[in-house]
Amino acid sequence: MPTRRLPWVIKYRPKRIEDVVNQDKAKELVIPWIRSWLEGRPRKKAALFYGPPGSGKTSMAEAIAHEYGLEIVEMNASDYRRASDIERVAKVAASQRGLFGRGKLILLDEVDGLSGLADKGAIEAILSLINITKNPIIMTANDPWSPSLRPLRDAALMVEFRRLTKTMVKRVLRRICASEGIKCEEEAIDFIAERAEGDLRSAINDLQALAEGYGVVTLEAARTILRQRDRVLPPYEVVRRIIISKYAWQAKRAANLTDLAPDELMQWIHENLPRQITHPEDLWRAYEALSRADVFFGRIRRTGAWDLLPYAVELMTAGVALAITKDMKSKYRWVKYSFPQKIQLMAKTKEVRAIRDEIAEAVSRHIKTSKRKVRADVLPFLTVIFQHGDPAYAAAIAIGLGLGDSSIKYLAQERAPQIMKLVAAMKRELGKIEREEARRREEVKKERSVTKPATEEVKGAKKEEKEKGKRKRRKKEKPAGRGLDAFFKKG
Ligand SMILES: Nc1ncnc2c1ncn2[C@@H]1O[C@H](COP(=O)(O)OP(=O)(O)O)[C@@H](O)[C@H]1O
Ligand SMILES: [Mg+2]
Repeated sequence: MPTRRLPWVIKYRPKRIEDVVNQDKAKELVIPWIRSWLEGRPRKKAALFYGPPGSGKTSMAEAIAHEYGLEIVEMNASDYRRASDIERVAKVAASQRGLFGRGKLILLDEVDGLSGLADKGAIEAILSLINITKNPIIMTANDPWSPSLRPLRDAALMVEFRRLTKTMVKRVLRRICASEGIKCEEEAIDFIAERAEGDLRSAINDLQALAEGYGVVTLEAARTILRQRDRVLPPYEVVRRIIISKYAWQAKRAANLTDLAPDELMQWIHENLPRQITHPEDLWRAYEALSRADVFFGRIRRTGAWDLLPYAVELMTAGVALAITKDMKSKYRWVKYSFPQKIQLMAKTKEVRAIRDEIAEAVSRHIKTSKRKVRADVLPFLTVIFQHGDPAYAAAIAIGLGLGDSSIKYLAQERAPQIMKLVAAMKRELGKIEREEARRREEVKKERSVTKPATEEVKGAKKEEKEKGKRKRRKKEKPAGRGLDAFFKKG
């Protein structure tokens, strides 16, 4: 019996930088950066490799170490929370490379495991590591965009790793087949690559499972063995898949690929929908579906009726995906997703909550509903209008509700400057009109005081007229004219 073979993902790991495929842009950033370190004048002390799983981030770090003769000192997710591990690495980081000693490369793998509030300490520890280090630090992350990772993003050279193309995945698989001397059906390779969706690690693992389990790599074997296994994906990836689904079943299946609770997943969809989808009608329909899902969640929470869950999930997945009909292209754009506000807010300052409250207060006064309802049902639409609608319309709303700059910034985000400018312009315009009216009023008054001096008699007559007018108005549904109009007509 042959001994258990080495996992192919390790056996075929890139040894040199040139073996890392499909990541030329990343190399263009990384090679000068590591050189700058070796020449003793690094601009950034750390680099953050980010991108989908199985795209070569860890491999690249290892290839760099190999190629430049550096010794890797590694730390990963389970170590960050132990002070002793951090200390161990910090000591290495701070030590200057001896005359004959090998240089070190510090690899902090998967730092996005550290996103919770509880990990604040660990993030601070990494930051001070970056400050004191005399050796290059490479961090990796699938999703580097959570707010708590911000300090790390700021401190590091950001290097994006692209999802591998299917062609590239197939090429690597074929190469492995050749070097292992196994016959692989082209259809099987295609099947595996399709399933892997750019994750080369999972593709290689699938290939090995087939080759060792079946002895052959055929489409039939692939279908039999590989169907069951589903993978867990990061939240933003699941949201992306739900949105790009063409069919209801695809969207529902995507929702199974996460370990988020369903209502948390809904927060993610809710937050990122307007980033991906821009056509107002599409957005409207998608938010309709989401808000109905939310009603179900509310009922489930209140009554514990878990049998309603499938409806909620159906609405927030298939309901959202199929709502997009006007601008199909927007589904496939690459956009950065972000953490749900609702979850983010808990970590954020009170300030943001105060702003939301202020807006909710203003709106609820206008449409006479509770602030809570406004926050849940109206604010999302307002953000859509401010971020994607007609800016002039948004500005008019801002004036109508008397929103201040901070509220506009909150609602419009990047578009805030544009809308604030429009608000200022409209206010100037309104001011002009008001001043003009006041001026005319003043003129008419003057004219009258010249032509008809107000004697007691006239005053009395006027009073009577006024009373009559009031009575008339009460009877009639529509007065002939009111306010300024009436004033000018009489004059
Ligand atoms: N760009 C790539 N070029 C070559 N091999 C890759 C690439 N990306 C992934 N692999 C293969 O997949 C395995 C896992 O890749 P890894 O670098 O650990 O991915 P990541 O760290 O991005 O999740 C590696 O051992 C390697 O065999
Ligand atoms: Mg990795």
